[in-house]
Amino acid sequence: MRPGAGIPSEADGRIPTVVADDLHIVYRVYGASARGNATSALRRILRRESPASRVREVHAVRGVTFVAYRGEAIGLIGSNGSGKSTLLRAIAGLLPAERGRVYTDGQPSLLGVNAALMNDLTGERNVILGGLAMGMTREQIRSRYQQIVDFSGINEKGDFISLPMRTYSSGMQARLRFSIAAAKDHDVLMIDEALATGDKSFRRRSEQRIRELRSEAGTVFLVSHNNKTIRDTCDRVLWLEKGELLMDGPADQVLKAYEEETGK
Ligand SMILES: Nc1ncnc2c1ncn2[C@@H]1O[C@H](COP(=O)(O)OP(=O)(O)OP(=O)(O)O)[C@@H](O)[C@H]1O
Ligand SMILES: [Mg+2]
Repeated sequence: MRPGAGIPSEADGRIPTVVADDLHIVYRVYGASARGNATSALRRILRRESPASRVREVHAVRGVTFVAYRGEAIGLIGSNGSGKSTLLRAIAGLLPAERGRVYTDGQPSLLGVNAALMNDLTGERNVILGGLAMGMTREQIRSRYQQIVDFSGINEKGDFISLPMRTYSSGMQARLRFSIAAAKDHDVLMIDEALATGDKSFRRRSEQRIRELRSEAGTVFLVSHNNKTIRDTCDRVLWLEKGELLMDGPADQVLKAYEEETGK
């Protein structure tokens, strides 16, 4: 590991869970049409240029270095397209590093707005499938089933858990997704905007659950455009802009700088 990367010594007693070392992530978009007008597009078609021959690169994360420890809740902030989701996907092992490395201790779980739930299946089936997908046993799922449903609040307005997911509002879907993921203790839990669509009381419950997950010695990453949620749940914040880590520090300090910059 390169010197000066802020890699911790064993002596401080904190246990690192995620280490990003000069991490670069590049997307390659195949078949992207070249910039140009209709005439040049027509010319390309007439020449039978294969669209696949054009590759456009998006350098989404640029040299990010940080160490996350057990028991930390880390907020990720930055404008749209600044690389937050990309960074989480890389930590989850879903994207290869172009340069640099990312190390994780334990199994990272990414809970995104797009986490796979099956629209045609009932909420109940999704709880079971989601639990199995996270590596829980049938026994564990059975014993936590009611807790998951209660936490989600899906049944507050009637027996919705036995209806297909497609009959749920987007907020209800997000709540069920979070509830399933939160039922398990995670080594590293990453939440990408999953709380954004929940209402106030659900948000309060999930913030409470994030605090519990932290105290159970996991590490939580939370992406949110809601500064209050970040302030209430995170003690440390990483601020990304154009793929670069602009600031890394105590939540109130980084949020203050961010708010001054963005005027929010
Ligand atoms: N699958 C993809 N293929 C190509 N480029 C992508 C892909 N996903 C994201 N990008 C690009 O990578 C950059 C970072 O995107 P990312 O989704 O990580 O931003 P973000 O910080 O999560 O934004 P938001 O706040 O809107 O969720 C953007 O320029 C985006 O266009
Ligand atoms: Mg995103």
